[in-house]
Amino acid sequence: MTAIVVIGAQWGDEGKGKIVDLVAERADLVVRYGGGANAGHTLKVNGQKVVTHLLPSGVLHPATRCVLGAGMVIDPKVLIEEIADLEGRGLSVRPRLLVSGRAHATLPFQAAIDRAANAGPRAIGTTGRGIGPTYSDKSARVGVRLCDLVSPSRARAAIEALIDAYKPRARAAGAPEPSVEEALAFIEPLVAQIAPLLGDASLTVDRALKAKLRVVFEGAQGTLLDLDHGTYPFVTSSNTVAGGACTGTGIGPTRIDAVFGITKAYCTRVGHGPFPTELVGAAGDSLREAGEEYGATTGRPRRCGWIDLPALRYAARVNGLTALAVTKLDILSGYEEIPVCTKYRVDGVETEELPVDDLDRAEPVYEKFAGWKEPLSAARTLLDLPAAAREYISMIEQRVEVPIAMVSVGAERTETIVLGDAFSYVR
Ligand code: GDP
Ligand code: IMO
Ligand code: MG
Repeated sequence: MTAIVVIGAQWGDEGKGKIVDLVAERADLVVRYGGGANAGHTLKVNGQKVVTHLLPSGVLHPATRCVLGAGMVIDPKVLIEEIADLEGRGLSVRPRLLVSGRAHATLPFQAAIDRAANAGPRAIGTTGRGIGPTYSDKSARVGVRLCDLVSPSRARAAIEALIDAYKPRARAAGAPEPSVEEALAFIEPLVAQIAPLLGDASLTVDRALKAKLRVVFEGAQGTLLDLDHGTYPFVTSSNTVAGGACTGTGIGPTRIDAVFGITKAYCTRVGHGPFPTELVGAAGDSLREAGEEYGATTGRPRRCGWIDLPALRYAARVNGLTALAVTKLDILSGYEEIPVCTKYRVDGVETEELPVDDLDRAEPVYEKFAGWKEPLSAARTLLDLPAAAREYISMIEQRVEVPIAMVSVGAERTETIVLGDAFSYVR
């Protein structure tokens, strides 16, 4: 039995979609357990590009079953549109999809309030998908679960309770109060399509694990966007770390065998918040253009910078990483030398640890490593790489103290150096 959690080890967009798609080839079940349509996971197969937002990135493998766990927040309209898009491409999705009835629904007024709060000096720069409001409402115990929507009387009662909680906020903001009738009209055409998909995700995953099937838990966002362990308040509203796979699915930590961390060979971040190794100006622009670093969900330009090893070691710790996949190594071709942040200077003192209060106080300390000129996308083994690129990979492995299982050298499924069986890097 092997249950692998795949998580982002940076600020999201590390290439989780590509790696999950690869690993899912041999998986029976792929499970999303947190976040919602703020995620944008890109898969490229034979020149065709698919971006998943709510569906797990294993969905392109026609025999793989897909599960959305209780820890997710789900905009029912986005879900139905995403399914329709894939079915329009000839892929059957519904018969192999199970959605937790316990997952919370995002309604249009929750997305609207998220977008309205996205301006001003304290803005987070969210994706505007209603993630923060839906999770806050869930914690405040006024949220609406997908299972609540199935019965008309329960749906009305749940939506009325949620809107009651919104009235003072709307009044304070001078905004119109959300309308129960409008919310009911929004869900009405969706419910018939959602209802047959609902079930108990925890039970489904438990049965799969008992049957010794292979299960991949697909993280969304990245470690430094975690609500508890990220760069608060510039984070998302869910637990993006590996532990979230347990709480967000409804299985115990003893069931997880391996945790795969995904990191780019450099670093990016979308939205506001600290980013010690960020390159501003022309250097950042050229990395963004080379890596085509524009958000898969919002199209926003991603902030770009050098790899940050203290942050990666932190990710290894808080997720309990058993292996790493390094993506986008091909994008670093052409640099004479590559600066790598190996430590921070905080209050004049060098340290390898992240400050607890504010990562903005960490000034990066760089070591420079030799670059290479050759394009890498044709490489399929480490020996196909120039020596300097091999050195770079082995430097990351040694300093993060986690074995590297895969090196990605292009966006296509095939453009990957697989160093070992993904299911063998168990704890
Ligand atoms: P995710 O959110 O972690 O799944 O990552 P995104 O899909 O948002 O962003 C990663 C981007 O990098 C996508 O456009 C991928 O197609 C692309 N990508 C992934 N791995 C590689 C790689 O090794 N090389 C290159 N050039 N592109 C990659
Ligand atoms: P994937 O799964 C990168 C960022 C937003 C913002 C912050 C909070 O594709 O890696 P939210 O809408 O979640 O309330 O926004 O988190 N963010 C992401 N950044 N990749 C993502 O997902 C992200 N999901 C949220 O930009 O800074
Ligand atoms: Mg993404």
